[in-house]
Amino acid sequence: KQRVLTGITTTGTPHLGNYVGAIRPAISASQDENNQSFYFLADYHALIKCQDPEQVHQSTLEIAATWLALGLNTDNVVFYRQSDIHEIPELTWLLTCMTGKGLMNRAHAYKAAVDANRADGEDSDFGVTMGLYSYPILMAADILMFNANKVPVGKDQVQHIEMARDIAQRFNHHYSEHFALPEAVVDDHVAVLQGLDGRKMSKSYGNTIPLFLPEKKLKKHINKIKTNLLEPGEPKDPDTSTVFQIWQAFATQEQTAEMRKAFEEGIAWGEAKKQLFELVNEQIGEARERYNKLLENPAQIEEELEKGAAKARAYSAPFIEKLRRAVGIRKIG
Ligand code: TYM
Repeated sequence: KQRVLTGITTTGTPHLGNYVGAIRPAISASQDENNQSFYFLADYHALIKCQDPEQVHQSTLEIAATWLALGLNTDNVVFYRQSDIHEIPELTWLLTCMTGKGLMNRAHAYKAAVDANRADGEDSDFGVTMGLYSYPILMAADILMFNANKVPVGKDQVQHIEMARDIAQRFNHHYSEHFALPEAVVDDHVAVLQGLDGRKMSKSYGNTIPLFLPEKKLKKHINKIKTNLLEPGEPKDPDTSTVFQIWQAFATQEQTAEMRKAFEEGIAWGEAKKQLFELVNEQIGEARERYNKLLENPAQIEEELEKGAAKARAYSAPFIEKLRRAVGIRKIG
C-alpha cells in the first residue's frame, strides 16, 4: 500500500486554494483502496506564523470541521492533530541534528523574509524566528514519522518535500535505512490558485475566498476578484484571468472549454462571476451545511481527533523507540 500524508497549518479559515490544492485531492486519494492515508492539522506549524492563541485554537476547530464536512471517512483515514503526536517534536530534534544549515538557508519562506528585510533596509534576519528558519525540519518530521511515500500538496510546498527527502537520505545513509523517501504529488492541472488580487491565494496576503462563506458573502467575495477594464463584448484572455483560473479548478473539461469560448466571445465580467459563484456554490453547498452543524458540536470533532491520535501513535510510538536506539539513545546496561 502507498502511504499518503498531508497537513494544513491552523492559522486561519480554510480557503478555496487549500481545498483545491490539498483537501480535495487528499480526500479522493483516501478513497483509493491502494492507499493508506494520514491527514493532520499542523498546529505546531501555526505557531510559526501566528501567536494569537485564540486564532490558533479556532482555526484548528474550523479546519477539522472542514475535512469532516467534506466527507473524510475517519474509519479509513488516520486523521489527527500534530500536537497530539509527541513523537513528532522528538523526531524533529533527531532530524535537526542531521540537517545542514545550508539546506535551511535555501528554504523559500526564509529567503522571502530575508529579501523583504533587505528591501526595507532592515537587518536581514529581522523578525525571523528559529521556528521559521527550521520549519522544513518540522515538516520533514511530520512526513517521515509515518514513512509516507506520497504527499499531495500545492506547488508552494514542493520544495519542503524535497528537503524532507534530502534529510531522510542523509539519516538513512548515516544510521541505516529507516525512512521511506517521500514524493510530492501535485495536481498540475490546478497549479496555484490565485486570490482576489491575482497573487497566490494565501492567508498571509489576506486575499482568500474562504471555502464555507455563507452564500451571500461568497457571492460578494467572488465579485471582488480583480479584473481588467474590458467591457462586455470585448474578447478577454482566459489565461491571465483569476475568474477563469478558479472556474477551471471547479469545472469539468467540457465546462472549461465552454467558458474559454465565452471569454473569447467577450462575456461580461459580471456574468462570468455570476456563473463562477453558481458553480462553486453548487459544489460546496451541502458540505457547508454539514460544516455549520459540526461547528455547533465541537465535542464530536474533539472525539474524532482523539480517536485519530490513538491510531497515529500506534505507529509513531514504536517507531520513535526504534529511532532513539538507532542514534544511541537507550537505557544503560
Ligand atoms: P498551508 O496550510 O499553507 O496550505 C495547506 C495546503 O494547501 C495548499 N495551498 C494551495 N494550493 C493551491 N493554491 C493555493 N493558493 C494554495 N494555498 C495553499 C498548500 O500547498 C498545502 O498543500 N507547511 C504546510 C502544512 C504542512 C504539511 C506538512 C503539508 C505541515 N506539515 C506535511 C504536507 C506534509 C503549509 O503551511 O500548508
